[in-house]
Amino acid sequence: MEKHHRLGFASRMGAIAATVGSAVGLGNIWRFPYEAGQNGGGAFILVYLLCVLLLGIPVMLSEFIIGRSTHKNMKGALKELSPNTRVYRFSYVSVLGAFITLSFYVVVCGWVCEYIYQALIGNLHSHTPEQYSEMFNSFVGSPWAVVGWTLLFIFINMMVMRRGIRKGIEWLSKWMMPLLFVLLVLFCINSLLLPGAGEGVKFLLSPDFSQLTFKGVLDAFGQAFMSLSLGIACLVTYSSYFSDDTSLMRDAVVIAGLDSLVAILAGLMIFPAVFSFGMTPEAGPKLIFEVLPSIFQQMPGGYVWALLFFLLVFVASLTSTISLSEIAITFLIEERHMTRNRATWLMTAALVAMSTVCALSFNVLSGITAFGMNIFDMMNYLASNVFMLLGGLFTAVFVGWFLDRKIVKEQLSTGGKSDHWVVRYAVFCLRFVAPIAMLFIFLFFTGLLGN
Ligand code: PFF
Repeated sequence: MEKHHRLGFASRMGAIAATVGSAVGLGNIWRFPYEAGQNGGGAFILVYLLCVLLLGIPVMLSEFIIGRSTHKNMKGALKELSPNTRVYRFSYVSVLGAFITLSFYVVVCGWVCEYIYQALIGNLHSHTPEQYSEMFNSFVGSPWAVVGWTLLFIFINMMVMRRGIRKGIEWLSKWMMPLLFVLLVLFCINSLLLPGAGEGVKFLLSPDFSQLTFKGVLDAFGQAFMSLSLGIACLVTYSSYFSDDTSLMRDAVVIAGLDSLVAILAGLMIFPAVFSFGMTPEAGPKLIFEVLPSIFQQMPGGYVWALLFFLLVFVASLTSTISLSEIAITFLIEERHMTRNRATWLMTAALVAMSTVCALSFNVLSGITAFGMNIFDMMNYLASNVFMLLGGLFTAVFVGWFLDRKIVKEQLSTGGKSDHWVVRYAVFCLRFVAPIAMLFIFLFFTGLLGN
């Protein structure tokens, strides 16, 4: 019965491509540069990469182990792996995490739509960096515009979700992602050739640890988990379609490697330009929207590049929102016994309400703040630094300490061929590094580590 509703992939390659599609998105292109910019550049990136190695890949492996050993989604998998316990309830937290992520993520997708439109009408050239900055501010300051584009994106997402998505995501991920990659390389080269670009490269690649705070470390962790789509059971679902004879370690390394590469490329595209145009790296969420048009403007045929780039970012975002929506929709189908159509409608209605509030937090609701964050920032922070981080670490500890070691070994040693070092590395990180990271987060949130 479950099989009818689950998305299903045509091939193993399709499942892997879709997983890369889920991982590569606004997290890499929009979020990574501004997080790095706000947290001192190089040192943040170093912590981020360490986190990918010591936590990201192991947590990804633990989600893969849960998904592939059971071929079920999170709830069913936890029920099977840990019968007679209530661990399965954790899957509800994942659904909430996915929904919170979607609520702010689609707002940024709306911004991307606006920039596609601006590129189409030829408005992304012949302005100064200050004018681009004003353009962005006046756009997010206008409730109708931001909400309108957000709703349009949600509508497109809904249409894709309703139509069964398997072939679509596979195709988009297989063909559009490489193209996005090539464009990023091209834009990097262009940025690196700008006058004064060296400052930006230095900012990115030479770590200055005096700039790094405990908050910055936590942000780097959260960013790694957000970027790799960890902690909210998305990869459990996708890996339940992986075939039994593929190496999980190899897949995890390929996915994490590609994902991090895209993020670093995005940084190398943005920061040389930021310094060259005399802008500030700490601009926050608006960073790439202010800087990119000036970069394209430097290139011959700039607005064609702008249009192509924003279209590809749109596709990358869509393959990510699809994976996020699938978590909530599968839950409604399997737990509330709804049809796919109904589940999609319900999720969309809830999303319209939540994301409208997020979109309005830059204008009508900008007065509502807590801890110096507006509602959008809060959702963004909650999603990565609470739901994904704690969810991922929970999964790690569950697999490292509680899951039958035979299952772990069987899954990590591909088709019976044992890879001792892989098992040892993964188990070590899951058993020891993950709990230490949890302790760090606990101390940070209780204020014991200071800000
Ligand atoms: N990894 C995506 C990005 O970098 O844009 C965001 C994401 C997708 C997070 C799916 C979590 C998830 F389950």
